[in-house]
Amino acid sequence: MCGIVGYVGNKSSLPVLLEGLRMLEYRGYDSAGVSLAYERDMITVKSKGKLCELEKKLAERNIRESLCGIGHTRWATHGAPSDINSHPHETELLTLVHNGIIENHKSIEGFLLREGYSFVSETDTERAAKLIDYFYKQTREPISALLEAKKTLLGSFAFGVIFKDIPSKIYALRKDNPLIVGYDSTSSYLASDIPAILPYTKRCCRLSEGIVAELSSGSISFYDKPFSLADEKFEEVEWTCEQAQKGGFPHFMLKEISEEPSALRSTVERRLDSLPPSLFEGDDSILKCVERISIVACGTAMHAGLVGQNMIEKYARIPVSVEIASEFRYRDSIIQNGTLALFLSQSGETADTIAALRKAKELGYPTLAIVNVFGSTLAREADRVLYTNAGPEISVASTKAYSVQCAMLALLALNLALLRGEMSEDKVKKICRSLLCELPSAVESVIARGEEIRTLSQSITDAEHLFFIGRGIDYSLALEASLKLKEISYIHSEAYPSGELKHGTISLISDGTPVISIITDRALAEKSLFGVHEVISRGARVILFCSEDIAREASLPHCERFILPKCPSSVLPFVLATAVQLFAYYTSAEKGLDVDKPRNLAKSVTVE
Ligand code: G6P
Repeated sequence: MCGIVGYVGNKSSLPVLLEGLRMLEYRGYDSAGVSLAYERDMITVKSKGKLCELEKKLAERNIRESLCGIGHTRWATHGAPSDINSHPHETELLTLVHNGIIENHKSIEGFLLREGYSFVSETDTERAAKLIDYFYKQTREPISALLEAKKTLLGSFAFGVIFKDIPSKIYALRKDNPLIVGYDSTSSYLASDIPAILPYTKRCCRLSEGIVAELSSGSISFYDKPFSLADEKFEEVEWTCEQAQKGGFPHFMLKEISEEPSALRSTVERRLDSLPPSLFEGDDSILKCVERISIVACGTAMHAGLVGQNMIEKYARIPVSVEIASEFRYRDSIIQNGTLALFLSQSGETADTIAALRKAKELGYPTLAIVNVFGSTLAREADRVLYTNAGPEISVASTKAYSVQCAMLALLALNLALLRGEMSEDKVKKICRSLLCELPSAVESVIARGEEIRTLSQSITDAEHLFFIGRGIDYSLALEASLKLKEISYIHSEAYPSGELKHGTISLISDGTPVISIITDRALAEKSLFGVHEVISRGARVILFCSEDIAREASLPHCERFILPKCPSSVLPFVLATAVQLFAYYTSAEKGLDVDKPRNLAKSVTVE
């Protein structure tokens, strides 16, 4: 949701800014821009479209070397993607990049019009930039101008600002949107996310809300009031640069799927040092009185929640509800004693999930977050946090982060099952061993059969509509398979419980309609196969993703199929997930689409 970068130091800033924007393009990519500061002037270049359009524009101009600059890659909220609406927004006294939404931009505009300001873009950001300009005019003191503006601004923001008369410093301030700062001996860096800073330094600070960071060459100062220094914590980031690069793969998505075995191993292994699983280093009090669990998340993370619901209910016999965060945050919830609110998020920065967490805390729920990004807002604000150790995920379509969320939920389910005496220690240990020993290699063996899946995907590249069907946990898996396929291939896809199709949607099945059936749950296999026969008899062309034992024992219809490797039932959902992720990937790649940056989407949705 918009990427911000900033650089000040002894290097030329433009290459650093462009490289940083490339790393952040997953946050939004409908326009991009940079401002470069000089002793006596400022150059701002911006362009609609992806970063390469901005680079073309820059190449046409003879740009002088500047040692200080800010850049932005945009995901439009106010005002269509256009050159004029792109960031940075320059005013008489400053230039500014913004991530977030200024909710009271209309009233700010009214105030500024009365003060003699005029506007060229449709953006809320231009109003914010000019408000800071207004305050700066009064005092010529950057910290107080920013903090004064903060008092007026409603909504969410992360700002990077250069004041024209201070061309060797960048100022940053945030509320409800992330900003990272870091420095080395000669330079300072600002970014919305860690990957943009990783090539230069691993010592990063997540800027606290309401604190102004002042970045100079090789040092950063923090202020909570004008002239009052504040303390901010720096931490050592574990991620490596290689993890945030494609490493020879054609797309991040394929690279990230190929990292699933190691991501799963790393998430599971460190919790299974001793069997059964220990999640909270001895203090599992948060799980002690759990009578119900309410899982709240968005998008793919919400689908991982559905898989978790199946596992927690099955293993631990605890009722679980799964809710979309944007609904939860405004619903008039009824709290029942003993409910644990569990939040899932790869980024830990999704605006709706954060708002849902805050509401849950207000209502008095104990809160637990399962998050991939260390130190992110959800991680910091939840009562307890469990980190999935998937490393950075860049492709907009989430893959390895989903798989490790499901793995963490499996461990949680087993933990709860033991605590409640619903499963014997031996049984729990047996499943843990499968997750530890058989899961990574089973996923590896699916990845090794990529070519087989690519061939299957060729039969749907021309489809306009298709359906996924499944029952029980296979329906939860089908929902994610369908989302993955539609978001990156632009084929309209819907997932249905196999038994529900006949109550309406089957009227859409006609000759040749592709239906992808997922069957891994042995107990429901016969019933699921009824659904397959029902659609075949109405002309559907079925592609079956099915477990090895079911393929061996049941009489399968004549259709295209992918038979999963032989593995324990506890491992099957993960293996299936990888297979359907690859199916979506190859469909999109075969269609020649921009797999990692599907249209209209962004990876980290930090606005409502
Ligand atoms: C966006 C991404 C999805 C992701 C969702 C939730 O919509 O495109 O891939 O599942 O946000 O993100 P989170 O970081 O909270 O898991």
